[in-house]
Amino acid sequence: MQSYLEAAVDIAREAGALLAHYFERRVGFELKGDFDLVTEADRASEKLVVERLRSHFRTHSVVGEEGGSHEGSSEYRWYVDPLDGTTNFAHGYPVYNVTLGLARAGEMVCGVIYDPARQELFSGELGSGAWLNNRRLRVSKPARLADSLVATGFPSRKRHLNINVHFYHQLAMATHGVRRGGSAAIDLAYVACGRLEAFWEFGLNPWDMAAGMLLVSEAGGRVTDMHGGPAKIGEARLLADNGAIHDEILALFAEIFAGRFRVPMPEIQPV
Ligand code: IPD
Ligand code: CA
Ligand code: CA
Repeated sequence: MQSYLEAAVDIAREAGALLAHYFERRVGFELKGDFDLVTEADRASEKLVVERLRSHFRTHSVVGEEGGSHEGSSEYRWYVDPLDGTTNFAHGYPVYNVTLGLARAGEMVCGVIYDPARQELFSGELGSGAWLNNRRLRVSKPARLADSLVATGFPSRKRHLNINVHFYHQLAMATHGVRRGGSAAIDLAYVACGRLEAFWEFGLNPWDMAAGMLLVSEAGGRVTDMHGGPAKIGEARLLADNGAIHDEILALFAEIFAGRFRVPMPEIQPV
């Protein structure tokens, strides 16, 4: 019998091929909120993933971003983002993925993030490790924020309430740079494989983080809330990093939460 992870890998590859097909022919978008985009590719991918999960694992619950949810009778729950990076996708910007994560009684047990544009498949299983295609993953080594490349994201909903611009500015001043790639799952996968030292965001959904948080911890990194407390699926605030810079980021975050900015925002000089 196929393991949960093997099934998730097959489903992610199939959905990723479908996404790549839509990406080639460019699709239009609709709005779910003021700036919250959705495309026919999101819906087609979710239909495929949910159908496959339900036929393999009839008793499992499924939580899908585009409404394909199903309450099962077992303690297993799949979190599905059928297209993470929809805004990029709709603009033809090739940074997007499909991601699936499985939790058992609230604990992540396996996860997959598939990037069809680069044919990179990130996968991980609780206690067994994380991989990029067939290569075992380890987080990066830099131990100082000043030597780090980090990433963040800004959710499309309730943008006007998002405090992250303050964090963005302070982290940009303290690191080699802050990337905003537009795909939270890829950001987390990149922390797991050492391309980034850290990622944080304030408005994540369970399906954005499910697989990625498992990958980072299986690759030897740390995943917590913004104060160093345990990361929980369904808590919107997440910090994931290589472990070596964890305390330094938390200390900087604490200052920002307290309204103490090491570097003030520059005044705009009229020219
Ligand atoms: C979004 C992306 C983005 C992140 C948002 C997510 P979507 O997912 O991951 O990078 O900043 O919070 O909602 O809407 O493209 O699936
Ligand atoms: Ca997403
Ligand atoms: Ca999505």
